[in-house]
Parts: sequence; structure tokens; C-alpha cells
Amino acid sequence: MNTDLVVCPGCRTFEDGNLHVRTLVADGDVLACACGRRYPIVDGVPVVLVHADELLAREHCAVAEGELAATVDTLVADGERDDAPYPRLLEHLSIYMDALWGDRSEPAPDGEPFGARALVAKLAERAHHRVAHAVELGCSTGRVAAELAAGADHVVALDLQLGSVRRARRLLDGSPVRYARRVVGRHYTAATARAGDRAVPEARRTILCADALDPPLIPAMYDRVVALNLLDSVPSPRTLLEVLDGLCAAGGEILLSSPFAWQSDIVAVPERLGGADPAQEITRIVRDGDGLSGPYDIEDAGDLPWTLRRDARTCISYRTFYLRARKRRQGT
Ligand SMILES: C[S@@+](CC[C@H](N)C(=O)[O-])C[C@H]1O[C@@H](n2cnc3c(N)ncnc32)[C@H](O)[C@@H]1O
Repeated sequence: MNTDLVVCPGCRTFEDGNLHVRTLVADGDVLACACGRRYPIVDGVPVVLVHADELLAREHCAVAEGELAATVDTLVADGERDDAPYPRLLEHLSIYMDALWGDRSEPAPDGEPFGARALVAKLAERAHHRVAHAVELGCSTGRVAAELAAGADHVVALDLQLGSVRRARRLLDGSPVRYARRVVGRHYTAATARAGDRAVPEARRTILCADALDPPLIPAMYDRVVALNLLDSVPSPRTLLEVLDGLCAAGGEILLSSPFAWQSDIVAVPERLGGADPAQEITRIVRDGDGLSGPYDIEDAGDLPWTLRRDARTCISYRTFYLRARKRRQGT
């Protein structure tokens, strides 16, 4: 972890056209700011949110849980409603461990064995064009961050789902992660994922539980900025585009994807971009630099398959729109 890259989200100020930030320092099990704010480190993952206390209170299950045996997970979840925190956490981890690490898990998942294959391949291509700093927003269990690290000196990855980023941290450490793979309903079977040659030394990565719409990061310092399948998971897709642009250095690239699977409990109708053709609208916004710091050159765009295995009988298959665009340097 490089705390020099992490700023306090609670005391940033914008004065005379300049952003003033304080970086955090490690102090035992917290990251501390000179302003007095302290952010807890849970299982090796700093929770760097303005209202970290609210997330921790809401997600106490994700804070306290451990890697139980799948048979025990089944019993723990059994007496609860499907939408109770623990069954939801198990379901979420089953989906995103398989989607992102299915090719490196034992036993391999049935049905679609590796739902993020096409996206991971796109990221792996970029590793040939090495950069200094890369960042991924909405990293989930960390596979894309691991691929990014193959082509970057340092990678920062963040997600709001603490249970997922805890797994990301352990996998990138090189530790095996045991998880419960859903068979059907409340029935789970044991699986174990390993990053293997995709493990990333601690000095070369920083993994955070943080908000993609208010990332505790230094603007304009990332040469590669990634947000896969996040646009329709945040309340303001437009703000997310502005955040990606804000993090991207001049001459750097942004890589994003989305199936635009809008849901009203996440993205209100007026916030949804592009009516019947969101892909075209996103491309236009980025190309023209509409509401952004400047225009981008579109270098790659098109649809890719993306599949999420829910259980042994259900896979959801998306056609996700993928875009890679390069930020023009001023005067070019
Ligand atoms: C649809 S999943 C995609 C995960 C991963 N990028 C992929 O493509 O497999 C969306 C992810 O975004 C995360 N997320 C949603 N809102 C977020 C926010 N405001 N800040 C950070 N992460 C967020 C979720 O926890 C989840 O891991």
C-alpha cells in the first residue's frame, strides 16, 4: 500500500482554483489525517469514506465475517431471509468470485466458467503498453486490478463492497481464497481461488474500500483509469464519467464498460444517459469532452460478452459496451 496516494476525503478544499488535499499516514490499524479524521483498516483494507462509520454500521456482517466452510455458510444463511445481509453477501461473493476468478478456481464453475473472460482479455492487451499509475474503480474481487498491475508500476483499486475488496486484497497478496459457490437456493459448495502469477507485491498496489463517486485519490495522476460495469451501479453515471476524467492524466486513457442495465433503486430515470442508445451517448460525451476537462480520442469501442453465474441453473448473459479513449494533451 502506498499511503502517499490516498488523501483524506473529509478535509479536501477547493480554494482560488486549486485543490488542497492531505495525504494519510498509517498509524497502527488506522490511516490518520492531520485534520484528526481516522479511517479503520479492516483485514488489510483501509475504509476511506467521509462517513466510514455509517458503512461499517450498515455492513457489520462484511466487517466481521470470515472464510467459513461452505457447509457452515449454508447453515448460517439457512434461517435468514434471502435479502438478509449474510445470504446477500454469500450470493454476491459467489457471483463475483466465479465471474472474475473462475479460470483460477478449483473446482472450475459449471456453466459459464469465467464470465469476465472477454473484458480481462482487453485489459491484458493493454499490459504491453506499460504505464506508471493505473486505477480501477468498482474492482470487486480484484481480478482486473491484478491484470492492470501486469502493465503498471503501481495500481490502486477500490470498491464500496467490503466483503469483495477483502477478497481482492488476499488474492493479490497471493493467498488462496476459499468461497461458497452457490448450487441452488441456500445450498453452496466449496471452491478455492488463487491468483498464482497474478499476485501483486504489496508495494505495487493499494486496495481501498472507498466511494467511486468521491475517490480519496489525487486528481490527474493516473495514466490508465478503469471502471468496468460500474456506470449502471452508481446513482449518477454522469458524475462517474467526470470522476474518471478527473483522475486521468493528460495523454492517459480511460477504459469503461457497461451493459446499461438500469434499475430504479440505483439509477433514477433522469440520471440515465442516452435514452435508447446509451453507448452512442457515452461515446459522444467522451469524444467531445462534453462536461469533461477536454476531448478524448476513441481508440477501441464495441460490445463484449459478460456473464454472471448465479447458481448451477442460472447464468445472466449481458452484452456490455466497452470503450477505451485517450485524453488529448492540451494544444493537440
Ligand atoms: C456490476 S459490479 C462490477 C464489478 C466488476 N467491475 C466487474 O466488472 O466484474 C459493480 C461493482 O461496483 C461496486 N460499486 C457500486 N457502487 C460503488 C461506488 N459508489 N463506489 C465503489 N464501488 C461501487 C459494487 O460493489 C460492485 O463490486
